[in-house]
Amino acid sequence: MKAAILNEIPGSLTIEDCQIDKPQNNEILIRTANAGLCHSDLHFMEGNWQTRLPAVMGHEAAGYVEEVGSDVSYVKPGDRVITCLSIFCGTCRHCLAGQMSVCQNFGATARSKGSSPRVSNSGGTELAQFARLGAFAEQMLVHQNAVVKIKEDMPLDKACLIGCGVTTGMGAVFRTTRIEPGSRVCVIGAGGVGLSAVQAARIAGAGRLIVVDITKEKLDLAKALGATDVVNGADVDAVETIKEMTGGGVDYSFEAIGLKATVEQAWKILDVGGTATVIGMMPFGVSVEIPGYEIFMQEKTLKGSMMGSNQFRTDMPRFIDMYLDGRLLLDEMVSEHLPLDRINDGYASMQRGENARTVVDFE
Ligand SMILES: NC(=O)c1ccc[n+]([C@@H]2O[C@H](COP(=O)([O-])OP(=O)(O)OC[C@H]3O[C@@H](n4cnc5c(N)ncnc54)[C@H](O)[C@@H]3O)[C@@H](O)[C@H]2O)c1
Ligand SMILES: [Zn+2]
Ligand SMILES: [Zn+2]
Repeated sequence: MKAAILNEIPGSLTIEDCQIDKPQNNEILIRTANAGLCHSDLHFMEGNWQTRLPAVMGHEAAGYVEEVGSDVSYVKPGDRVITCLSIFCGTCRHCLAGQMSVCQNFGATARSKGSSPRVSNSGGTELAQFARLGAFAEQMLVHQNAVVKIKEDMPLDKACLIGCGVTTGMGAVFRTTRIEPGSRVCVIGAGGVGLSAVQAARIAGAGRLIVVDITKEKLDLAKALGATDVVNGADVDAVETIKEMTGGGVDYSFEAIGLKATVEQAWKILDVGGTATVIGMMPFGVSVEIPGYEIFMQEKTLKGSMMGSNQFRTDMPRFIDMYLDGRLLLDEMVSEHLPLDRINDGYASMQRGENARTVVDFE
């Protein structure tokens, strides 16, 4: 099977012929239908983060179950599934408390040490599966707790977006932060993740819904998806503009880029009592600075959101229903379809700030 491999950091992806094993015990072999390009992979390709190499990249996918291991009862061959990197062990204290997105019990859902690799390259070298998924591949071999079964009538080229970007952005609003109807919200960064936060805020009944980006195309799309106001951070001082527009600041801000400067902006645009939620993946090792007195005297909160604090087997089917009943607009978020061998073009567009989401078609 063909897969997009990262062999060095920094580096781009190469399309290689790879071997994939048969499913053991709790594993599922998936025929990938579509995979979305999320910015998180790009952070590794650019050298902002490190991961085990060589690796099959990609982590936002939907496909069909092809074969299951002997202990799998949740799905059967032919079922349609979305994968999620929040692979839950189901037994640790985080999982039992419903915080599956921060389960750290990775060993419980991996192959035991010394087993044959799930995926290897043509020379027989083991390939890491990025985010324990490796979605830029014609087939994926994953633990059964990495998938949710979905409805027949959900198109998979939209379903794949729910695998990361949509669940992250919407979960940040619905689960991590739980905004109230009527509240003043600002989303900074209108890529696939930020636009999903915008849609969740619209669905949750945000009052003022301000979006900041630096490209006009993204801001136009943000308006179409529910923004009441847009601010081009390339033209104006976003903090001053938003403070003025809102008469003091917003109740909730969401940072969906991954830069120290914009995380600090998300804090500065808060009104007294506000909450800033960081979704963006800042380069590893980067710290943020916020004035200490504001934390207590102004009762402001800074929180992080890992994969939208999801409980994905509950959340993803809900998002599918919201798509099918017309509330969650995903067709508008798919900017382009590409074959796997043009995947680097999709990442080049992302580096230029173009495209809400690029989707790779395997079928
Ligand atoms: N927390 C999580 O679990 C999680 C999950 C998925 C993605 N992420 C992270 O979320 C971030 C967004 O991902 P994405 O796929 O939507 O990325 P993207 O590249 O599609 O979108 C980023 C957007 O930010 C805009 N932008 C860039 N610099 C800006 C600036 N200075 N001011 C305003 N706007 C600016 C770009 O124009 C673009 O529209 C990334 O850092 C990604 O790694 C985090
Ligand atoms: Zn767990
Ligand atoms: Zn992602």
